[in-house]
Amino acid sequence: MVVGTRELTGWPTEVVGMDVEVPLAGGGFGRYINLDNAASTPPLRTVADAVSSFLPWYSSVHRGAGYKSLVSTAAFEQGRRDIGRFFGVGADQSVIFTKSTTEGLNRLARLFAARGATVIVSPMEHHANLLPWRKEGCTVQYLSCDGDGVLDMDDLKSQLQEALGEVVVALSGAYNVTGYCPPIHEIARLAHQYQAVVAVDGAQLAAHRQIRLAGTDGLDRIDYFVCSAHKIYAPFGIGVLIAPSDALAAATPDLVGGGVAELVTRTGEWWTGLPGREEAGSPNVVGVVALAAALNRLEQLGMDSIRQHEEELTLRLKEGLAACPGVRVLASGSGSAAWSQVGVVSFTTPEVPHEVVASRLGYEFGIGVRTGRFCAHPAVLQLLGVSDADSRAALARLAVGQPSALPDALRASLGLENCTEDVEALIAALRQITGEGPSPFAYVRNPETGDLQPEGWGAKWPSKVRCTGPDGDASSDGSTRC
Ligand code: ALA
Repeated sequence: MVVGTRELTGWPTEVVGMDVEVPLAGGGFGRYINLDNAASTPPLRTVADAVSSFLPWYSSVHRGAGYKSLVSTAAFEQGRRDIGRFFGVGADQSVIFTKSTTEGLNRLARLFAARGATVIVSPMEHHANLLPWRKEGCTVQYLSCDGDGVLDMDDLKSQLQEALGEVVVALSGAYNVTGYCPPIHEIARLAHQYQAVVAVDGAQLAAHRQIRLAGTDGLDRIDYFVCSAHKIYAPFGIGVLIAPSDALAAATPDLVGGGVAELVTRTGEWWTGLPGREEAGSPNVVGVVALAAALNRLEQLGMDSIRQHEEELTLRLKEGLAACPGVRVLASGSGSAAWSQVGVVSFTTPEVPHEVVASRLGYEFGIGVRTGRFCAHPAVLQLLGVSDADSRAALARLAVGQPSALPDALRASLGLENCTEDVEALIAALRQITGEGPSPFAYVRNPETGDLQPEGWGAKWPSKVRCTGPDGDASSDGSTRC
């Protein structure tokens, strides 16, 4: 794809906070450039509007006879319908609200562990799609993948042929270290040929690609799907689990409490139907209103337009990083044929510690990225070429109170609000940080957080954001010292 020098403008005015300026180490303020969308996206304006319009009507859901309760219940159930439509759920699936992708995957792990399932994952998974399966005692098998983390479909086929009993292929729809989007429907078609089911961790996919869970002919359907609204421009604490209704109905509800039973006596209970039996406790109706508003807006903007914009910007980002002398891109695309990718690119700066790079980007340039192993340690370690023996030695060091001493990486990730200028600002800043020697500012560790910050920085938090205890002192420029 040739993007050339065309300006890629995105939809910056769609999100709240694009005009916010942050204090810079050199003095003054600069526009905040959010390149950490894979962690959390900013809220859409339409989400903020929907929430503030709804709040005067906020009341109990499925629990009250008053008018506001009826309005809240109607908004909650309309939200469920909107969300189901957006994801193209099948008639045999239920949309269940959770608090996050992590909760959804933990629930699935409990469901399948009770059935003694084998789970096939990639070594590139986020911990949320790895640790729950391990913790609950499922048999976990790893797929082979190439140097970019791209799945080996032949290995998947062999593992499906050989696996015994109930099998779940549990993969991310888009990987949070590489951005790679495996062909989930092709994988589902293959898995179904071997009576396996497919669970997709959609956390990094949902805001960036059109999703039709029912597939084209049912044979390529995605059986289980989870995602989190805080990565879909709707940060109000809600997540979604979509699952075959019969699988949920056959199991005891995962969480129990109010709302899950039609009748409870001193000695027994009769569970209510779906989706209520999987939504114990008072539902997060504000979260549902927010997520439905976000998805409706994404539909209006057009998922194909969003995809095209983000793909073009991703290409620009990868090309810019690759041309930056002090930067090495992980999963650069050299390992295999072209693969589909959301706007997530991880990289290293071999000559400058990543924590220094990330801190300098934040304090000196107003650019937000993430550093570390992105809650996907096996993925980052494999991409960096760390051997299993070295990983085992690192665990042994931690067990005796020493640091693990394993490498990490940096990550830039895009959303619909980003534009060419954001990517160019990152590349220019990285060229300066990796090419022009040390920072003009001395960096020290904040004694409370342990993070690097410029010496004498204090903590210039905005006065309207409460980040001190009652004794916090407001500094003269109106900011609050923490
Ligand atoms: N899962 C989020 C990330 O990748 C938090 O950064």
